[in-house]
Formats: sequence, structure tokens, C-alpha cells
Amino acid sequence: MDCGMKNRISQIIKPETGRTVMLAVDHGYFLGPTTGLEEPRKIIAELLPYADSLMLTRGMLRTSVDPNASVPIVLRASGANSIIGDDLSNEAITVSVKDAVRLNVSAVALSIYVGGKYEHQTLKNLASLISECEEYGIPVLAVTAVGKEMARDAKYLSLACRIAAELGAHMVKTYYCDDFEKVVKSCPVPVVIAGGKKIPEKEALELAYNAVRDGAAGVDMGRNIFQSKDPVGMIKAVRSIVHENVSAEKAYKTLKL
Ligand code: R5P
Repeated sequence: MDCGMKNRISQIIKPETGRTVMLAVDHGYFLGPTTGLEEPRKIIAELLPYADSLMLTRGMLRTSVDPNASVPIVLRASGANSIIGDDLSNEAITVSVKDAVRLNVSAVALSIYVGGKYEHQTLKNLASLISECEEYGIPVLAVTAVGKEMARDAKYLSLACRIAAELGAHMVKTYYCDDFEKVVKSCPVPVVIAGGKKIPEKEALELAYNAVRDGAAGVDMGRNIFQSKDPVGMIKAVRSIVHENVSAEKAYKTLKL
């Protein structure tokens, strides 16, 4: 791996702990004005000081993030569908690598739908984005999107994560599940977990704790942070779990709910 690629990955996964707290605020790319993200600039500014990186679309980056902020950017580079459209897996690459370079991003992210109707298309998207990004030393985070009909179990998630790594993804984002250690062990690149739909704060903190205990390199969490009654408290609590191995119970006690 070249020096630029390594440097960009270390901007996201902190070398001091080997872990990361990524803040995902890219939901609008198919959900529109998601609850908690109606005014993205405001919530992003509040949470930014506690995020190791910010995952979002180029539209939100241009309009809703202070360009003076030093936070590493993970740019969503796939989409072109919506929650009311035909099939969520019908994704395209939505950003040129040239634009990603112009936006000075630390990584790009793209969803794959293993087992979905447009599986082949999304895997080809991943492979071609990686090939292009390799030329510039930009890492690619593959997001294993799970269709409604798919089971979020270790067998399926191992399959999806491993395929992403085989195609050359530098990091993989997936969901936590029972036997998560198996997913991590069979994926040779760092794995981070999504938070998923909003759940009670205590459960979300337990999810983060269990994920890093079982080998995740951290979280790429969105709704369970920005939809919390105490979003800043929540991201700080998640940080303490991910970077300091604080228990979920102790971290929960710091929240102002
Ligand atoms: C989903 O495809 C998006 O990339 C989200 O950013 C991702 O699911 C993480 O957000 P959440 O923790 O809300 O699931």
C-alpha cells in the first residue's frame, strides 16, 4: 500500500487506538430530510469536534460543512435512487474521483447489495471505483447494504464483507450480528459497524461496545447519535467506548436524557 493511501486511512482509523468513530450523515442521499438532519449544518457543527471523520454526500459537504474544519471526509460516492423508487440496489457511482480529489476527501464510500436485484451492478461499481481511486491513493469504504429480504446474520454479512475485500475495498462497513467475530476474522481489512435504526441509547452503546470487543475497528454511526435527545453526549459516550474501552453502562451514565 502506498504512502498516500496509508496516510489517508490513518486520518480515519486513529493509529493511537487502531479505532475510529465515524459520524454518518449521508442518509439524505436516498431518504431526503431524515429526522435529525433537517438542518444539517447545525447538527454537523455541534458533533464535528467529536468525530474522527464525517461521512456524507458532496452536496452536504459543499453546503453544510465549514471548509475550515479539519475533520477527515468520507465522501459517499454511490446512490441515484430513493426510498420511494423501484429498487434501492439500483445504484450508480455518483461522484467522479476528480471531484473527490478537488473536495480533498480522505476516502470515498460506496454501497454494495450482495444478493440484491442489482448485485452485479453494485459490485462492478465497487471494482471500478477502487481501480480509479488506487491511481490517486484514495481508500474506498464498501458499505454492505442489506435488503429487507436478507438476514443480517454472520453467514450473510461474512459473505458480503469478504466479497468487498476481495474486490479491493480498503475498509468495510457492515452491521453487528451474533458471531460477529467470524465476520471480522474472515475479512482482511478493517470492519466498522453502522448503528442502524434509532434504538434506546443504552442499547446503541451496548452495540458499539460489543462490536469493538468482537474486533470491529469502530463505528460509522448516524441515527443513534443525531436522533438522540443528547446527540453530543451520545457521540462522546461512543468515543469513550471505542477509544478507551469504557463499558456501555458507564458511558450511558454520562448522558443527559
Ligand atoms: C446507509 O447506507 C448510510 O450509509 C448510513 O450512513 C449508514 O447506515 C450509517 O448510519 P446509521 O448508523 O444511521 O445506520
